[in-house]
Amino acid sequence: MFMFSTCIEHLQAQPLWILLLSSLGFLSLLKQTISLLKWLFITLLRPPKNLKKYGSWALITGSTDGIGKAFAFQLAQNGLNLILVSRNPQKLKSVSREIQAKYPYTKVKVVVLDFSGDDVTAGVGAVEEVVRGLDVGVLVNNVGVSYPGARFFRRGGGGGVEESG
Ligand SMILES: NC(=O)c1ccc[n+]([C@@H]2O[C@H](COP(=O)([O-])OP(=O)(O)OC[C@H]3O[C@@H](n4cnc5c(N)ncnc54)[C@H](OP(=O)(O)O)[C@@H]3O)[C@@H](O)[C@H]2O)c1
Repeated sequence: MFMFSTCIEHLQAQPLWILLLSSLGFLSLLKQTISLLKWLFITLLRPPKNLKKYGSWALITGSTDGIGKAFAFQLAQNGLNLILVSRNPQKLKSVSREIQAKYPYTKVKVVVLDFSGDDVTAGVGAVEEVVRGLDVGVLVNNVGVSYPGARFFRRGGGGGVEESG
């Protein structure tokens, strides 16, 4: 209590500009500290989201290589069953085997679909058949389709995108 009143007396003895500057410094330090604590919480302490609450299946397009394949393994590790969609049936079979060897309880279904092929409608129909009745909660739509000379949309690069209405 004594310390506190001494502190108040000390502050009252300071010129106003020093008090204002110190308050600004204090607020800025507080802001930095809160940001740091938030970052520490998000990076080290926050528990991961339970993706199974959205549904027990995940559908990943472009799942036999790179980012899509990595997603497939991560989602299987998180206990989700997988629907893998890609062009190449051999690669699909091999990735599906790899996943089941590592996560034996994961159910895996595969759909061969070439998004740049002639019969995308039939392929999408095949995907519909496979997902029917399954509780799909996560979609990783990782196959990128572009058009010649792609540019940022705001620079007039809307080729292939149709406006409606
Ligand atoms: N890697 C990066 O640094 C980066 C950066 C920005 C954006 N991206 C985008 O992220 C996505 C994945 O990149 P990535 O590096 O992981 O690519 P990747 O290693 O080449 O893998 C592409 C995956 O997509 C499948 N695929 C390719 N064309 C397809 C088609 N026409 N129909 C169906 N499946 C097809 C491939 O499987 P199959 O051969 O079995 O069909 C493969 O599983 C792409 O859209 C890419 O543009 C990547």
